[in-house]
Amino acid sequence: MEILDGKIVSQAVKEELRLQTAQWISEGNRAPHLAAILVGNNGASETYVASKVKTCQEIGYKSTLIRLEENIEETILVAAIEQLNADSTVDGILVQLPLPKQINEEKIIGLINPDKDVDGFHPVSIGRMVQGLPAFIPATPYGIMLMLAHYKIPTSGKHAVVIGRSNIVGRPMSILLSQNTNPGNCTVTVCHSRTSNLKELCLQADIIVAALGKPGFLTADMVKENAVVIDVGITRVADPSKKSGFAIKGDVDFDSVAPHCSYITPVPGGVGLMTIGALMKNTFRAATQSKGN
Ligand code: GUN
Repeated sequence: MEILDGKIVSQAVKEELRLQTAQWISEGNRAPHLAAILVGNNGASETYVASKVKTCQEIGYKSTLIRLEENIEETILVAAIEQLNADSTVDGILVQLPLPKQINEEKIIGLINPDKDVDGFHPVSIGRMVQGLPAFIPATPYGIMLMLAHYKIPTSGKHAVVIGRSNIVGRPMSILLSQNTNPGNCTVTVCHSRTSNLKELCLQADIIVAALGKPGFLTADMVKENAVVIDVGITRVADPSKKSGFAIKGDVDFDSVAPHCSYITPVPGGVGLMTIGALMKNTFRAATQSKGN
């Protein structure tokens, strides 16, 4: 069993971007610029956004963080996005999700200029991805593809089971794994809350991507010997022994599953770390394609 180490791979991705950015700037271009909008005070969102801003600094990007109150009207957020869309010095725009309930998430995502949609959530980005065109790929599935590529894990002809069908992880993951690319060329089964024979399907899988958000859901009796297991779960579970008062738990029961795998991602230290690297790759791409450059 080998651990797929998100720390090693994300460091490699970031180092490559740092060098590319230095080169880009030395050619007379301005630094790539990511603008993030954070609405409210959701603890997990605060942590993610802080980490994104810090990574921009490490790589040499400019970042702007726009903070809005939890109870704002939708029009305020709309205006903020329109301003960033019109600003030719901003390459990437990210609206941290989830948004407060008075705000229509779908509408907000649809307002972001697709050329700046570094999260890859806009229908234009999704459409391009589905057609196999150059596209901004959502950070989590993109990060997983980068990890599979880094460890040269064979995927062609394999049966991949994706558990979860969210717009930001499960569904794009299933599409990427099925595409005629490397990694890719998998036969993909998408499982979800209505799947009746989930255990049976998982037992047939060469690759399992667990992205349902239920801590410890995937247990050893559901995993074939030598399967590749990718754990996307990042649920906060109360843990008084931790200073923060919580621990981060994956969707995989790591201790029981790991001995049966050929490769497995840990939580923390796996997929989560890759997502920021993937976002940074999208941001560099946005900057180099930007009409403001
Ligand atoms: N919330 C959870 N994951 C993400 C992500 O990848 N991007 C944004 N914007 N919000 C998220």
